[in-house]
Parts: sequence; structure tokens; C-alpha cells
Amino acid sequence: MICFWGCLTIYNSLMCYFPNSLFLLFVLLNGKFLNSLFGNFLKNVFSFSLICTTFAKILRKHPFRWVKIKKFLVEMNVVNTVKELKEQLSLFRSEGKSIGLVPTMGALHPGHASLVKRAVEENDVVVVSIFVNPTQFNDKNDLKNYPRTLNADCALLASIGDVIVFAPEVDEMYPTEDTRQFSFAPLDTVMEGAFRPGHFNGVAQIVSKLFYTVEPHRAYFGEKDFQQLAIIREMVRQLGLGLEIVGCPIVRESDGLAMSSRNTLLTSEERERSLIISRTLFESIEYAKENSLAATKAFVENVMKTTPGFKLEYYQIVDGNTLQPLNEWSDSEYIVGCIALFCGKIRLIDNIKYKG
Ligand code: PAF
Repeated sequence: MICFWGCLTIYNSLMCYFPNSLFLLFVLLNGKFLNSLFGNFLKNVFSFSLICTTFAKILRKHPFRWVKIKKFLVEMNVVNTVKELKEQLSLFRSEGKSIGLVPTMGALHPGHASLVKRAVEENDVVVVSIFVNPTQFNDKNDLKNYPRTLNADCALLASIGDVIVFAPEVDEMYPTEDTRQFSFAPLDTVMEGAFRPGHFNGVAQIVSKLFYTVEPHRAYFGEKDFQQLAIIREMVRQLGLGLEIVGCPIVRESDGLAMSSRNTLLTSEERERSLIISRTLFESIEYAKENSLAATKAFVENVMKTTPGFKLEYYQIVDGNTLQPLNEWSDSEYIVGCIALFCGKIRLIDNIKYKG
């Protein structure tokens, strides 16, 4: 036994991980000297902690053999200031490395994970920003209740790969009030733009700041926020920014509900009811094959308006590029249905492609 502990200790000492005093204490505890004073209990506590530390250190020393387990030991590179982020990135940029950005407001779920995975595949360096942007909320309670789960977010990101997490405070992103006014008409005058005044201006403020800070080669956004994606593409065009905007498909729960950070705020009853949204949208694809655009729109609206606990804001069938409502299926080759409703107090959005 003593031989075994001795070997572990020598290993630790050789690797220069253990301070000498702890080494001495260990030897003493394993000898007869302190054993009589403290008994087996304390000895076992020290021995157990030594086994754990040694095991962790061996994993770190032999990453190839333990690569899967090592992922759980990875410390995240979390940066809180623009200055530090720029410093880190300028080093990578000088080495000619490509940079991908995944802007998020945290409370990460598999939908975000799919964006980050794609960014990791397509870029040398990936920045994931986690920032609940106050300027895009037009409802104070929504901002207050928005889930904030930085530790869990970091754990999820660590399981995907090496990324830089940019998690600034509000003052860091808005040292002074951002008075910029964007106009993306007619893209921002319909749907979310009509129901959430100022929302897209706030999105453009923060996303443009992130683009100027990170200067990414590519930025990744989910297609669940269909209108946001179109507006960000337009913003990049208006500002003449030379980056690629990559739209990624909606990720759904197994019952079809589009993944969203807000889903965690639903009660179990609301969560169950919410699957009616995606189910009806999918049914409407079949319905559309035999019916007019107006009838298909009415079919979806009718289900949402008659479901108790739902409050429909809009269901629009629009051109996928201009986001303008259509009258006939023949009016466009790219047609998408976009919905927003309250399920209880929680606002949910989703969309479905009919054509294109
Ligand atoms: O889609 C979101 O989570 C946000 O609107 C974004 C793009 C991160 C800007 O705050």
C-alpha cells in the first residue's frame, strides 16, 4: 500500500505539481507517526483527494488517451472586455487564421450548439458572444425574465470544442447610449417589426458592434429568427461589411417545437400545448397542396385562435427575400410562413417553408 502511495507521490513531485509541504504531510500520514493521532479517517480523506488530483493530472498529461474525459476538464476562455477580445483576436488574425462568430443571448440549447458546431467546422477560431442585449427588448419584463445561465452555457460550449466566450457587461457594449437609427424598410416594417417596435434597431446596434469588435470572416444565425436573418444580411450590405452571413436550419425538439431559450419559461402544460404550433405548420404544407394561399393562412390562423391559452399576433405567408405578404402561391418561388404568438405569457415564433 505504502509503495503505491509512494509511487503516486513521486509521480506528482516529478511533474512539479505538488508543493513539498503536501508531499511531506502525505508521507507522514501514511507512516505511523500521525496515524495514531488522527486515525484512519483523516488518512483516507487525504488519500482519496490525492487519488483524484493524480488522476486528473494524468488525464491532462496524456490527452490522447483520455481525450473524451479531458473535455470535461477544459477551462473556458471567457473574455469580458472588448479590449481583451481584440488583443486575442489580433494575434490569430496576424497568423492568417479565419474567425467565426456566433452571436447569442445565452441560455444555450441544441439549436445554438448546431451553429457553434458549424462555426467550429468552418473556421480556425470561433467566438461565441453571450450578451442579453437590452436595446432589442421592447418589454422590460421580458428583459428581466430572460434566462441567464452562463455556467451551463460554458459547459455546453466546452463539450463542443475550443471557443472564445465573449460575455461582456452592458456598460462594456454601451459605454454611452447608442443613438444610431437603422432603416431596413420594407424588411423591418412587417411581422416582428410591426409588433416589436425598435426591436430590429436594437438587434442591428448590437450585431454591428459585435461585427466591428470581432471582425469575423463568417457569422452564424438560426433560421428560426427568419426576419432577423434577412435584416442582418441587409445590414451587412448597407454597411459594406465584407463578411459572410451563414443561415442555419431550425433545430426542433423531438415533438417538433422549435428550440428556443424561451421554451424553458413555459409551464409543463404550456409546453405540451406549444407543440400545436409546429404540428399545424407541418399540416399546413399538406393543406397548401390542395388549397389557396389565403385558405392555408386561414387554416393556420383558425387553429391558433381557437386553442385555449394561445394569443396569435400574426401568421403571414411571405416572400422569403422581401418578407412582403403574398396573395397567390404563384407570386413567388420562395415562400415562407412566419408565426408569432403568446403561449400563456411566453412569446414564441416559428416558420415553415412552402416553396424554394
Ligand atoms: O438572436 C439572438 O439571440 C439575438 O437577437 C442576437 C442576434 C444575439 C442579438 O442580440
